[in-house]
Amino acid sequence: MKYLLLLLLLAIPVMGIAQNNPESKYDEFILTPEPPVSPRITGPVLYGLRPGSPLIFRIPCSGERPIKFTAKNLPEGITIDEENGILTGTINNPGSYPITLKAKNKSGSVSRKFTLEVGNKLALTPPMGWNSWYIHYDRISDKTMREAADQMIASGMVDFGYQYVNIDDCWMMKLKSKDPDINGKRRDEQGVIIPNKRFPDMKGMADYIHAKGLKAGLYISPGQHTCAGYEGSYKHEALDAKTFADWGYDFLKYDWCSYTKVAGKKSDPDYFTRPYSLIWNELKNQNRDIVFNLCQYGMGDVWEWGSEHGNCWRTTGDLGLEQRNNLPGFYSIGFSNARHAEYAQPGAWNDPDYILIGWVGNANKMAEGTPTDLTPWEQYSYMSMWSLMAAPLIFSGDMAKLDKFTLNVLCNHEVIEVNQDPLGKQAILLEKTEQKFVMMKPMHDGSISVGLFNTGNEVNEISISLSGLGLYGKKRVRDLWRQKDIGKFADKFTTEVQPHGVALIRIY
Ligand code: GAL
Repeated sequence: MKYLLLLLLLAIPVMGIAQNNPESKYDEFILTPEPPVSPRITGPVLYGLRPGSPLIFRIPCSGERPIKFTAKNLPEGITIDEENGILTGTINNPGSYPITLKAKNKSGSVSRKFTLEVGNKLALTPPMGWNSWYIHYDRISDKTMREAADQMIASGMVDFGYQYVNIDDCWMMKLKSKDPDINGKRRDEQGVIIPNKRFPDMKGMADYIHAKGLKAGLYISPGQHTCAGYEGSYKHEALDAKTFADWGYDFLKYDWCSYTKVAGKKSDPDYFTRPYSLIWNELKNQNRDIVFNLCQYGMGDVWEWGSEHGNCWRTTGDLGLEQRNNLPGFYSIGFSNARHAEYAQPGAWNDPDYILIGWVGNANKMAEGTPTDLTPWEQYSYMSMWSLMAAPLIFSGDMAKLDKFTLNVLCNHEVIEVNQDPLGKQAILLEKTEQKFVMMKPMHDGSISVGLFNTGNEVNEISISLSGLGLYGKKRVRDLWRQKDIGKFADKFTTEVQPHGVALIRIY
């Protein structure tokens, strides 16, 4: 009864505000403390690039502007934009280049070690950014993409490590469309792909994104057409890889879709790998680092071979189409992704699809956005699972309608640190019952991040045995969402967890 009352009390303000004032709904459930006014550098401590490829890296740093950025031991060929903290340039020799980044404003200063790993591995930590699909679908345009880049800066997401601005399907011409904007010649005489009229300047768009220190991504299918029926790369792979590099794109999502029609016989041992290895090899020939995302929904046990042909691979069907049973769809997608933990490593990540919170459009109808129907605690659970699983953190809601609560879920630097940990381990599912589950992720410094998740409808006490994790004696336990030490514990840690909520802790 007590819990029922509590639930009702929690639900009333949520329901009321959601209808009238989407900007401020859920504010009272915010757990992430405001960042200090003095600078705080966050994001990855390792960054991979290839010799001779252009680097663009904007130092994720919160704090009041103006901030002056400097760097010690910058390798030859790299310069820093002191006002915006953007590293650019190229390094010709492979090797490990440790740098000390420094940020200073009128309230204080901070420095942090950061290493450029020049070799053949990209995405040493999971990619972070935004993708257009779940909010703009086939309404996406150059203008909206540029605005998303603006909003990534203005919202402060960039200060926590979000950097990719990725266009999904629907930027090409479409077969048999009645819309004059997207109906036209799909390739020129040389076979170069022609964007639709909503994208008058693909290179200009990437330049615009780069000028902010961000990275640009795009999407296509190895088939004759994409899932939404737009032009695909089939038989134009080499040329498309070159075109995307010439335009300046830094990320490619390659979506199987209509490829089934041309894939041949399933008995062929290369059936699943062929389209991916084909373009992956072309991408590697470009003078540009293009992070490669395999999107084929987990077919052919992609986790077993994905690292040979790309940087991250979708392990499941579309999260936005996943049916809600007792629980919202991200749980089942997350559980399915969790089964492949052993395959995640720096440069190669399991991808359980995007973070769908804030304003998102119904994927079944490709509809306009509405506020997410996930409760605040479900959103914390979602972000905690993705962080523990070292999943790419790609938000796919509306960048123009980011409210305070959504930003508090997306931008907690201690939670993101779990995701971006340089050891690159994916959490394993330690325990799972009808009412709860526990995930644990070893971190590079010997600490352990643990998520205690309540999937029941009542407040639940959840425990973890510290000795079971190999931790003996008193250990410091920190609550990552609240960024607060809870205390020192020996043997066992127990906490109350809200319905569909999580306690995300780090044990030192
Ligand atoms: C799906 C893919 C989605 C989205 C969509 C575009 O196959 O899984 O993430 O890209 O195609 O049509």
